[in-house]
Amino acid sequence: MDQKVQGNFQPNIQKPSDEQYFKYKLLVENELGLDWSKEKKYLLHGRLNARLFELGINYDQYYDLLINDQETKEKELFYNFVTTNKTEFFREPSIFLWIRDNILPPLREQIVSGKKKKIRFWSAGCSSGEEAYSLSFETHAMAGMLSHEKEPYRILATDINTQAIVSAYKGIYSHELVKNLPQSVLNKFFVPVPSNDGRSKLFVIKDFIKNLIQFRVLNFLDEHYPIATQFDIILCRNVLYYFKEEVRKVVFEKMLGYLNPGGYLILSGTETGYRTRTAEKIRPNIFRKTN
Ligand SMILES: C[S@@+](CC[C@H](N)C(=O)[O-])C[C@H]1O[C@@H](n2cnc3c(N)ncnc32)[C@H](O)[C@@H]1O
Repeated sequence: MDQKVQGNFQPNIQKPSDEQYFKYKLLVENELGLDWSKEKKYLLHGRLNARLFELGINYDQYYDLLINDQETKEKELFYNFVTTNKTEFFREPSIFLWIRDNILPPLREQIVSGKKKKIRFWSAGCSSGEEAYSLSFETHAMAGMLSHEKEPYRILATDINTQAIVSAYKGIYSHELVKNLPQSVLNKFFVPVPSNDGRSKLFVIKDFIKNLIQFRVLNFLDEHYPIATQFDIILCRNVLYYFKEEVRKVVFEKMLGYLNPGGYLILSGTETGYRTRTAEKIRPNIFRKTN
């Protein structure tokens, strides 16, 4: 990035007009499903200001660049700018406790008895990976008892944001991001390394955990998802929340289609009000696939 837009420097690009904002609103709705019906002009400006300054262009010119130029990676960058990637390890701990108590023991039983060969999870909208890794830490305690050589579970973790996916794949977290994890979890799943400037520590996910997770870029708005697996748990938390009402329903149903019979789709505790005929509502935000 240009030296001038780093640090505390505030680039001063003129805010988008209503007309300009409307073009971007349609773009994020049509291509990402995001609901920008409530005024999000401040968000658009906050996220694009520095990039426009860097390129030396205005909102109309940037829009034309996005629409016309298929050669550059600008569309990918734009998606990265406008998506919201807030996440944390064991976000909403009660959900992970619920999984530990209610889902993992029966899955373990099925593996032990030979009824099931493999367990598959999907962290859908995984951001920088904390959700997928948290699920894997939780499962490891259970699955690790089964075999010393091979874990029977694998996790698919997807997101539209390429920057988030790269971070997730690298699995390197600052002290700030891991400081609330129990020491036992840190010892077992992370390697501490000095940061580049040597002033702090970074925490790198160990390979035996990383190797169980496949990180991929996927847009929920794509008609076809290139996924051949059926899952036992799909975590799709704090993702549908950002979508337009009609997109939420379509993506929600599509996810249910990727569950094994008896598998669970788990939303965040605040994402309630969904209905379906193909799954039983176990809790306001948890669905179990019937048949
Ligand atoms: C707030 S984060 C949620 C992260 C994690 N699931 C959690 O609850 O902590 C929402 C994620 O959804 C992703 N996202 C937004 N629109 C998407 C789309 N159309 N397709 C795939 N992922 C999308 C964003 O990039 C972002 O990383």
